[in-house]
Amino acid sequence: MRRLLPEPAADADPLDAYADAPPLRIGMVASVDGSVTDAEGWTDGLGGDADFRVFRALRALADGILVGAGTVRTGRLGPAKLSPALRAARGGPPAPIVVVSGTLDLDFALPLFTAAETPTLVVTCAAALRGRTPPPVPLVVAGGDRIDLPAALAALRADHGLDRLLCEGGPALATSLIRLGLADELCLSLAPTLLGAAHRTPLVGELPAEIPLRPSAVLEDDGVLFLRYRLR
Ligand SMILES: NC(=O)c1ccc[n+]([C@@H]2O[C@H](COP(=O)([O-])OP(=O)(O)OC[C@H]3O[C@@H](n4cnc5c(N)ncnc54)[C@H](OP(=O)(O)O)[C@@H]3O)[C@@H](O)[C@H]2O)c1
Repeated sequence: MRRLLPEPAADADPLDAYADAPPLRIGMVASVDGSVTDAEGWTDGLGGDADFRVFRALRALADGILVGAGTVRTGRLGPAKLSPALRAARGGPPAPIVVVSGTLDLDFALPLFTAAETPTLVVTCAAALRGRTPPPVPLVVAGGDRIDLPAALAALRADHGLDRLLCEGGPALATSLIRLGLADELCLSLAPTLLGAAHRTPLVGELPAEIPLRPSAVLEDDGVLFLRYRLR
């Protein structure tokens, strides 16, 4: 990939370009008109191989990978895997995926939960566990009737050693993290396509006020622009 800013470089490695991982970065892909889903309601049609290279590098650089339950309910999210090269660079197995669900209304028979090399964790709240058998996965319980996201992140760091977190979305979880001031960086992959209103799922939902972003890097690979913004 090419780095355009801050210092141009003809041949940048995604692992180097994103190496300075902050405590919580959001990494998502969107069309130029701001949709995070393609015409089939998933993300694979956005960004192609160039985005996958960055997606895998972001995962390799993270200690934990946060995803919202809505994304898991698409049924298309598999367990984290690493290529031999990324495993060597990381120096160990993949980071765990951490599913955020306030209802535990999830299919625990999915390979995401049954076949992960590094077990998938689930963040939930006490209310989700009332009157039911706990699901057969490692749980992080934070909050009573609703998930207390700051407490959940603190527990992931203190009890599980997941210091550098990557949130892969979806938009609802990313929006909550931004609203609460918990996200340090937005890594946006801008796919060179316009999807139009019929297929548009916005990157971010409602915010109480405009949030200024500070661009810190711009890269390009195969027509996809990779934009790094600091949130605070
Ligand atoms: N382009 C991309 O980079 C990208 C990345 C990921 C996903 N996607 C797409 O995004 C779509 C899913 O996104 P989504 O916005 O509907 O769902 P989401 O953000 O993946 O998940 C939202 C769910 O997370 C749980 N949750 C618990 N506490 C929360 C909190 N404080 N804030 C927000 N969520 C909380 C809730 O599940 P409970 O009901 O269990 O409480 C909520 O319904 C899919 O179509 C997927 O393909 C795109």
